[in-house]
Amino acid sequence: MGNPPLIKDNFKQKSLLSVDQLDKSSILNLFKKVPLQKRSVEKNEIRNDLKGKIISLLFFEPSSRTFSSFAAAVKRLGGQTLEFQNLTETSSVKKGESLEDTIKTFSVYSNGIIIRHPQAFSAYNASQVCNIPVINAGDGTNEHPTQMLLDLYTIYEKFNKLNNLKGVLVGDLLNGRTVHSLLKGLSKFKGNTVYLLSPKQLSFPLEKFSTELKNTQIIKIRDESEIPEDANFWYWTRVQKERFKNLREYEKLKNSFILSNELLSKKGNKNLILMHPLPRIEEIESEVDQDKRAMYFRNQIRNGLYVRMALLSLIFKK
Ligand code: NCD
Repeated sequence: MGNPPLIKDNFKQKSLLSVDQLDKSSILNLFKKVPLQKRSVEKNEIRNDLKGKIISLLFFEPSSRTFSSFAAAVKRLGGQTLEFQNLTETSSVKKGESLEDTIKTFSVYSNGIIIRHPQAFSAYNASQVCNIPVINAGDGTNEHPTQMLLDLYTIYEKFNKLNNLKGVLVGDLLNGRTVHSLLKGLSKFKGNTVYLLSPKQLSFPLEKFSTELKNTQIIKIRDESEIPEDANFWYWTRVQKERFKNLREYEKLKNSFILSNELLSKKGNKNLILMHPLPRIEEIESEVDQDKRAMYFRNQIRNGLYVRMALLSLIFKK
């Protein structure tokens, strides 16, 4: 992949393809715009930020939250959408059309493209064949930059800072794109420590990311007993079934680490927050959902809407 342009506090008409484009100040300035969007949703307002604009949502992989929060965000901002889920079946892709040709077509009908695709760097490739902003809503096992923004915002909302924090990332750290983007995002800030807990086969690919993560102290652990008791957040993830060639291997690994009330009472503290990008399969027991510290069905998904509204407004507002 080439280098997508740095955002440097100016999102206007730019694509967001990778966390690499963002610096600390761009992230924090975007966060300043979030409360305004939150208030307008709470008042059921439709804003004018995207009035007259049409945004294409092109999702080649399944999605619940990312797709619908983006669609809701565009509409809340007064824009309109062309919405495609399952393009492989419902568009000319079914006839064999290439990604490039699909993107060129939608760039004629719309002012921006939000794309999710199973191939790493596909969003970047899409941005190279059109002249409208492209937002990466997940490119294979690579990245998910807007999930990073909502995850960091959720942490920021609780602790009022993004440095000197201690986090625990658990699950499929090899294939989980949200984890890749979150670690890159956290590493824009100083003094963070991250414990990585996964089955050996699903370890975080440190070699791919080493330069981006130099600000963060990374500690790989192999057992739940090594989780520090003073962590600020736990970020649990599912084992990514669709990335396995051998489903027997998936079955073996899928429930390696389960978040339960018992583990929480052993290793949790009262200020901790519990996060998960969702969907959750069996890796968090449903009893945990009632715990006040569980953010995944509360602030974390709500923030997905507000943060995406703030981002879209910065990119597309006149
Ligand atoms: C994640 C994704 O698609 O990467 N979901 C999401 O967008 N919130 C996580 C996952 O699928 O496990």
